[in-house]
Amino acid sequence: MITLRGAHALRDADVILTDHLGPTGQLAQIIGEEAVADKEIIDVSKLPYGRQVAQEETNRLMVEHARAGRRVARLKGGDPFVFGRGFEEVQACAAAGIACEVVPGVTSAVSVPAAAGVPVTNRGVVHAFTVVSGHLAPENPGSLVDWGALARLGGTIVVIMGVRHVAAITAALMAAGLAPETPAAAIQDGTTSGQVSVRATAATLAEAMAEARITSPAVYVIGDVAGL
Ligand SMILES: C[S@@+](CC[C@H](N)C(=O)[O-])C[C@H]1O[C@@H](n2cnc3c(N)ncnc32)[C@H](O)[C@@H]1O
Repeated sequence: MITLRGAHALRDADVILTDHLGPTGQLAQIIGEEAVADKEIIDVSKLPYGRQVAQEETNRLMVEHARAGRRVARLKGGDPFVFGRGFEEVQACAAAGIACEVVPGVTSAVSVPAAAGVPVTNRGVVHAFTVVSGHLAPENPGSLVDWGALARLGGTIVVIMGVRHVAAITAALMAAGLAPETPAAAIQDGTTSGQVSVRATAATLAEAMAEARITSPAVYVIGDVAGL
């Protein structure tokens, strides 16, 4: 799913800061083995509920290498501005007076459902899709998502980072009026050789995901498109 522009940025870099969701394992395929051997590759992954490289440390490394005159590529998963902290990294570069270019990516919110045969929109079926973070449960006071409004909107709902709270999220949507029989689909490791997906309904999604042992990284889609 890397873009040509992204591949060029990687090829032109001296240092590549990688992420666990980016196509790090395919670097040799993207830019060639010899090109990879020439570069310094630094892993700055933040694993969900696991090893975390602090954002400040990532920012510091980008700035330090750039100040030393190296070309730095920051390789992230999907689109850097979709729940990706990409803008924070741009701000860190700006604050340090370092010029940078943002290369938009193909977000998992759209590519992962597509890889499992689920279009986020379809003519005559739905005219809106909303991408939400399910990182916080609906009852968490820190949550900025209006789940009730989403249930009433009637469009496709794409939840990313929502595996842990799927039961609470589907319950909140149904409590706000979403029909329990609304089709749903969950996809883990989408677009990779390890892709796994399940189809269910809003009412059965949490159970179906548990049965299929769906774990992060996964995206789920709730809406009529998931039944196509
Ligand atoms: C921190 S967010 C980053 C999203 C990224 N910026 C994007 O645009 O795709 C990480 C979440 O994206 C989703 N995700 C990323 N890659 C995925 C994949 N290959 N399969 C399923 N979900 C994925 C998961 O919900 C994961 O928890």
